[in-house]
Amino acid sequence: MADRLRKHILVNAFSMNCVGHINHGQWTHPRDTSIDYKRLDHWTDLAKTLERGLFDAVFLADILGVYDVYGGGIDVPAREAVQLPVNDPMMLVSAMAAVTKHLGFGITVNVNNEAPYTFARRMSTLDHLTDGRIGWNIVTGYLDSAARAVGRDGQTGHDLRYDQADEYLEVLYKLWEGSWEDGAVLGDRAARIYADPSRIHRVHHRGQFYQVDGYHLSEPSRQRTPVLFQAGTSGRGQAFAARHAECVFISVPDKAAARAASRAVRKAVADAGRDPQDIRILAGIAVIADRSEKAAQERLAEYTASASPEAGLAHYSASLGIDFDRYGLDDPIPFGQSNAIQSAAKLAQSRGYTKRALLDQLAMGGRYPPITGTAAQVADELEDWIREGEIDGFNLTRIVTPESYVDFADLVVPELQSRGSYKTEYAEGSLRHRTFGKGDRLPATHTAQGFRPGARLLGAAE
Ligand SMILES: Cc1cc2nc3c(=O)[nH]c(=O)nc-3n(C[C@H](O)[C@H](O)[C@H](O)COP(=O)(O)O)c2cc1C
Repeated sequence: MADRLRKHILVNAFSMNCVGHINHGQWTHPRDTSIDYKRLDHWTDLAKTLERGLFDAVFLADILGVYDVYGGGIDVPAREAVQLPVNDPMMLVSAMAAVTKHLGFGITVNVNNEAPYTFARRMSTLDHLTDGRIGWNIVTGYLDSAARAVGRDGQTGHDLRYDQADEYLEVLYKLWEGSWEDGAVLGDRAARIYADPSRIHRVHHRGQFYQVDGYHLSEPSRQRTPVLFQAGTSGRGQAFAARHAECVFISVPDKAAARAASRAVRKAVADAGRDPQDIRILAGIAVIADRSEKAAQERLAEYTASASPEAGLAHYSASLGIDFDRYGLDDPIPFGQSNAIQSAAKLAQSRGYTKRALLDQLAMGGRYPPITGTAAQVADELEDWIREGEIDGFNLTRIVTPESYVDFADLVVPELQSRGSYKTEYAEGSLRHRTFGKGDRLPATHTAQGFRPGARLLGAAE
C-alpha cells in the first residue's frame, strides 16, 4: 500500500434541493428517495446520516433558470426532472442545523440575482443560527433562461459576470467585515447599552454595478464572512478564485485533469499574494461501495440501468450552451468560446468529445467519475486522487439517495479511518476553523482584510 496521506481527506456531500441533481435518471431507482425532497424529514434524516459519517459539510448546488438549450425546450428536463423543479437551498439549512452539531453547509447562491445588502443579512443570520457552520458557493450563472426570467434579454458576457461578482464581494466585505467592529456589541443590561453606536460604521459604496449607503443589519457572526467556495476554472474564474476563494470545487474526468486544475489554481493564488496552501481543492466524485467487488459491480450495473444518459446530455448542453440534439453521434462538435461554463467547454474541446463519447461518459447519468469496489479498493483510489490529483478532498455526488451517503459512511469512512486518512471525530470550532485550523475569521492575507475598519484607503466602511 502507498505511503500514508499527510492530512485528512475533506469530504462534502454534494446535493441539491430537487429530484434530479447530477446522476440523472436515478430518481427512478426503486430505493431512491429523491422524490421526497419536499419533505423536511428527508433533509433532517440526511443531515443526521452525514454527521454520523463525519462529513465536513453538505454542499448544496442551486440553479436559477431552466435547462432549455437541448432541443430548444424543457421536454427532457421536465420529463427527467433535470434540476427542474428546484427549490431554494437556503431554506433547508436551519432545519438541518437543528438536528446536527458539527455538519457544515455550503450553500450555492448566484451573485446576479439578489442585492448584496439583503443577501449579506441572510447569510449572517444563518451563520448566527448555526454558530459558524456556513459556507457560500459563489456562482456567476451560465443560463440565458435565468436572465430572461428576471427581465433581461440574456446573460451578460462571461468575464463581465465575474467583474460584477468581484464588486459584489467587495460590498459584502464592507458589510460583513467593516460595518461592525469587534466589541461593538456590549449587551449590557445594567447600563442599557446593547451596542456601542460609535463602533458601528456606515457603508458607502458607489461602484459600477452596486450602490450601497447603509449599515449592516446583523451584528457580527462567528465567522463574519462565510467560508468562500467557488466553482469555475476558466482564466477569469481562476483570477476570481485567487482573490476570494478559500475552497475551489472542480469538475474533472481524471487525476491528470485534477492535477492541472489544482496547479493552475494554486499558482493563481500565489500570484495574488496568498499562500497556495491556504486554499482547499475539492473534486466531484461518485462512489459505489459494497462488501465484495462482485456486489459492487452488480450495483454499478443496477444503477446504470436506472440512469438517463440523455438527461445527462441535456444538462451538459446547458452547461456548455451548445444544443447537442443537433449533432449526429460522431459529428465533430465546435465547442468554441462558450459564454456558459468555459472550463467545461475547454476540456471538451481539448479532448475532442463527440456526442457518442459524451453519452458513454454519462452512462450513469452524470459526469463525475465513478469509483466502484470494496471499501479498501475505493479508499485506495480516493487516496490516489488526493496524491496524484494534488487535491484536498471531494464533493461526493448522490447516485441513489440516501444510499450513496450511507454506504460511504458505513463502509468507506471506517476504512479511511483505519488508514489515518479520515478524521475519527469532529474538531471543535467553526466550519472555517475545522477546515483550516487557523481560527474562525478570514486570515489577514485575504482580500477582505482591506475592507476591515482601519483599512480606509481601500474604501472600507466609514
Ligand atoms: C463543479 C462546478 C459546479 C458548479 N455549480 C454551480 C451551481 O450549483 N449553480 C450555478 O449556478 N453554477 C454552478 N457552476 C457554474 C459556475 O459558478 C460558473 O458560473 C461557471 O462555472 C463559469 O465558470 P468558468 O470560469 O469555468 O467559465 C458550477 C461550475 C462548476 C465547474
